[in-house]
Amino acid sequence: MPETKPAAPLENSGRTALKEQYKDSSNFRKRVALHARFGTNRYSFYRWVFDQFDLSRVSAILELGCGPGFLWRQNADRLPTNTTIVVSDFSHGMVREARASLGSEAGAATFCQLDATVLPFKTGSLDAVMAMAMLYHIEDRPAAFREIRRVLREGGRLYASTMGRAHLRELREIAGRVFGTNRVTNAAERFGLETGYDQLKAAFANVEVRRYQNSMHVTESEPVIDYFLSTARMRQLPPALLDRLRVELDRVIAAQNGIAVSSDFGVLIARP
Ligand SMILES: C[S@@+](CC[C@H](N)C(=O)[O-])C[C@H]1O[C@@H](n2cnc3c(N)ncnc32)[C@H](O)[C@@H]1O
Repeated sequence: MPETKPAAPLENSGRTALKEQYKDSSNFRKRVALHARFGTNRYSFYRWVFDQFDLSRVSAILELGCGPGFLWRQNADRLPTNTTIVVSDFSHGMVREARASLGSEAGAATFCQLDATVLPFKTGSLDAVMAMAMLYHIEDRPAAFREIRRVLREGGRLYASTMGRAHLRELREIAGRVFGTNRVTNAAERFGLETGYDQLKAAFANVEVRRYQNSMHVTESEPVIDYFLSTARMRQLPPALLDRLRVELDRVIAAQNGIAVSSDFGVLIARP
């Protein structure tokens, strides 16, 4: 059901909106909940991505944009020993939640509030930098890549998880029919498995993409509405449009006995 007039683009999510979005984990948890509820791969993304890390001969790790600390929480049984782990985010609320969630299992981890574009670490002092689902939020990514590259030692690695272009394609198509396609953005165009590969190639000698196998079978509209409403941009939409999205999702779910949705997530591994 397309709108008769072209949809006005929503205000771009600037830094203030981003800080508001991530002042705590409530919005992010709605996004994670959609995947947890309807994803078909029972082996979690955080376990899978940890399997991709080469932690042999690693003694100093930095995580950027840690959110509520799911990466370490879900791998608490296999945290590397004799390794310094700095868990960071620019949101004070997220750092506090990550610290609380790891609790006594934090071991050698330390927690700090920092912006990914200014890293207070010595050149060549880190073995690995983890940036999970966060680089697409950074406007000056070349500056962030320069900083990451600077702090990595020779042979060190950046692990950057993100989505591919196909991620949630079917849901974005339905939302596009209701809202107007220019209102449904895709972070994969900013820094995704395809676009991020090209961007990292400009800054690192070696870049590799690994994809996590998953798909979704969505059988309820409300978690999808919550997912869309988890961004400040989408919360600007008039409630009537959200009602139309709900009706359209319910119609497609009833007609097709659920919606088969593409899930396209993975990790880019970059080496200087
Ligand atoms: C989508 S969440 C991902 C959280 C976590 N990495 C995960 O995958 O579970 C993005 C996180 O990046 C953080 N973030 C966004 N821009 C940042 C920046 N410039 N520097 C540091 N953290 C940032 C946000 O505060 C938020 O916690």
